[in-house]
Amino acid sequence: MFDVSKIREDFPILKRLVHGKPLAYLDTAASAQKPKQVIEAQREFEENSYANVHRGIHTLSENATALFEKARNTIADFLGSNDSGEIVFVRNATEGINLIAYSWGESNIAAGDEILVTRMEHHANFVPWLRITQKQNAKLVIAELTSSGELDLEDFSRKLSKKTRVIAITLMSNVLGTINPIENIVEMVKRNYATNLDSFPLIVIDAAQAVPHFKVNVKTLECDALVFSGHKLYGPTGIGVLWMKKKLLDDMPPFLVGGQMIRTVYNDRVEYNDVPWKFEAGTPDITGAIGLATAIQYLKTLGIDAIFEHEKGITAYALEKMRSLKDLTLFGPPNPEKRGGLLSFVHKTLHAHDIASLLDEEGIAIRAGHHCTMPLHAKLEVAATARASFGIYTTKEEVEIFYNVLKHIIKRFA
Ligand code: ALA
Repeated sequence: MFDVSKIREDFPILKRLVHGKPLAYLDTAASAQKPKQVIEAQREFEENSYANVHRGIHTLSENATALFEKARNTIADFLGSNDSGEIVFVRNATEGINLIAYSWGESNIAAGDEILVTRMEHHANFVPWLRITQKQNAKLVIAELTSSGELDLEDFSRKLSKKTRVIAITLMSNVLGTINPIENIVEMVKRNYATNLDSFPLIVIDAAQAVPHFKVNVKTLECDALVFSGHKLYGPTGIGVLWMKKKLLDDMPPFLVGGQMIRTVYNDRVEYNDVPWKFEAGTPDITGAIGLATAIQYLKTLGIDAIFEHEKGITAYALEKMRSLKDLTLFGPPNPEKRGGLLSFVHKTLHAHDIASLLDEEGIAIRAGHHCTMPLHAKLEVAATARASFGIYTTKEEVEIFYNVLKHIIKRFA
């Protein structure tokens, strides 16, 4: 049974006051708070089992290596992969996409090729592709959205061409909340491959906003690569994951070079380690990996489907309340079934930053700005949006408080 009040007891930070008011943390899409299980697992590891991995033959190093590699197995299992060799530890989703764009991109993207992204991409899934297209004299193509903030599948289909080498797409938008129908897109690519495409494009999924909210399975998605960050998944910062098909990883050159990613170094050449270690130069974030695996176990115990149901209920409630507010524009699909747990909006006269500051005075944390999606904001013709985002610990009461304070702010300042 999904019991929010019990879940909240696992998050020590939720007990604190902000400006003398109980904290209503509605900024989980920026970074999720950490349950005590994660904090404790990291502390326990550092206090009792810490050592470097893959380097020592002493007991602590062997223990640490076993825990680190066990964390990799947990993550593979979480994503529906049966091969932990497909899991590369990176710092965050951004680094994962950079790794693909550099290592795969530099040897596979040629002049005239196209990379197809969508208008709703986070800069993490936009800038690395823009850079590689400029470097290789290729072209970045942007699929547009419908007026309700969903991917325009007709436009996407029109923009798929013989030259498309990569499709890079978010599974859930960090601004619109839109959940993209990746399965339909892959079907569309398959149909085009039979008739229109010269080669099957690399399909890269940014799952940073998706994995904390609903089940993500790399086999079902039929993608080639997928990334996410630990800190949005109730895990630590500084650790993220790249999942990529083993064959692709095997064929790619390394991203960063140095210690740990080598097999043998000669005066004039290097033999690289096997994957995934070929892509993990230097001492990794060992504690972070253990913390992330603990966060995944924690979410599994709650039940990923139950999490999705809870957050859908919160989002539907927030949408319904917010629709009644004067001069407010809400972004993203009106149907809560098509979106994850966040809600972005603008007010006709009040700036998003002012709204966020005034809410903060009442202990309510939301994010305001362009949320690292400037091409999307330019298209929406707004410089900044305010965004409330929800998680496993969000209650209807918090949404109610947020709504009432926002209503009061509009009445008083607009
Ligand atoms: N990408 C994070 C957000 O959407 C930081 O807020």
